Amino acid sequence: MKHYDTILIVGSGGREHSIGWKLLQDTTKKIFFAPGNGGTQNNIEIDSSDLLKLCEFAKQNNSFTIVGPEKPLSLGIVDLFEKNQLPIFGPNKSSSRLESSKMFSKLFMRGMGIQTASFSIFSDASSAIEYVKSSSKKVVVKVDGLASGKGVFVCDSTKSAIEAIQKIFNDNEFTDSRNKIIIEDRIYGDEASFIALCDGKCIIPMATSQDHKNIFDGDKGPNTGGMGSYSPTPLITEKIGNKIVEKIMSPTIRGLTDIGIRFKGFLYAGIMIERGSNEPYVLEFNVRMGDPESQSILSRMDTSLLKYFEAVVDERLDSMPPIRWKDKRSVCIVLASRGYPGKYQTGKIIHGLDSRFDNDTNVFHAGTKKNSSGEILTNGGRVLSITSLDDTIEGAKKKSYSLVSEIHWGDNEEYYRTDIASKGIEYLNSTIRD
Ligand code: GLY
Repeated sequence: MKHYDTILIVGSGGREHSIGWKLLQDTTKKIFFAPGNGGTQNNIEIDSSDLLKLCEFAKQNNSFTIVGPEKPLSLGIVDLFEKNQLPIFGPNKSSSRLESSKMFSKLFMRGMGIQTASFSIFSDASSAIEYVKSSSKKVVVKVDGLASGKGVFVCDSTKSAIEAIQKIFNDNEFTDSRNKIIIEDRIYGDEASFIALCDGKCIIPMATSQDHKNIFDGDKGPNTGGMGSYSPTPLITEKIGNKIVEKIMSPTIRGLTDIGIRFKGFLYAGIMIERGSNEPYVLEFNVRMGDPESQSILSRMDTSLLKYFEAVVDERLDSMPPIRWKDKRSVCIVLASRGYPGKYQTGKIIHGLDSRFDNDTNVFHAGTKKNSSGEILTNGGRVLSITSLDDTIEGAKKKSYSLVSEIHWGDNEEYYRTDIASKGIEYLNSTIRD
């Protein structure tokens, strides 16, 4: 790989903070964040979508760039950097369509015979409403484009499906992403995140994890970017993991190659393990690390992440040894601003960040910023992700919640789910799937 002097991490979330935290253990090179957050060092004031300025910065600082979020990927940051002979980790624009267009992704899966729910595509509200009225099945309504995890509506009735369709076509939140909607049959089961490093030819799976997407306990309420995660998840047994690789991940990389797309980066499959059959179905593809999955997965990684990033760029993943994982469980709890994923306030001073931490606990920042006096203020919906390691899921959960209870920003202004990782404990206590 081309020699580089510094690392540039693009993004500002808990995922980017955790990637930076891990890389800091792997290298002595200086790590910049663009734009970063209140918990990251060496922040530069460049928006993660300002590709030209990022490119200029990477040239001047001879950086190896790691892209966290989907937006710059979908805008073509990798294509631009490669054109300028700058090393960069992440998929190019055409690969990113797997996430930036649900329609592309569903049609690709249908074409390649990759297991996913049956679906139809609509470009106007009235024909979508006609369709759900005439269907006897429960449905999931999805916007075609990027919507920060908030463009998926799992509907319990025809009424809620109609409301979702009307919201997508009337709400300003979806202006950029609602040209098409996808309506798919609902699959019942348990969801998990399966994320792999890919270099266009070969894949190396990361540890498994489970995200908690809904805002309220018991998986109730609207979808968010993710309210907590834990790793590994007992839901994905070795047998199911192998099935996911054989039936989903490898055919996806091969299928993309067949249509002229070389996928290099993190491929993230949101998987539904269907109740009864134990068959894995793809709910969605993402083209990056998950957030907050990254926080719980990377906390357990016991080998250099940087070496794997370099191997992806050089297309030599097949020569890399398996990743070593700490024999510990991790639980990550997201502390959010009350009101998220709807309206919320920002600018509140966060107290308790100097609470005691041990070696196995991390507070990854997301929606935070530092003011001129060095105080950390809230600056977004998902504010912090508290991640702990322990020998058991119960132990890691207890550690994380104990720290969560010490962090505050005002009178009852912080919000978190109280049941993160409970499903993992239930899976362990129930009959393990084969
Ligand atoms: N946690 C879900 C995502 O990263 O898309």
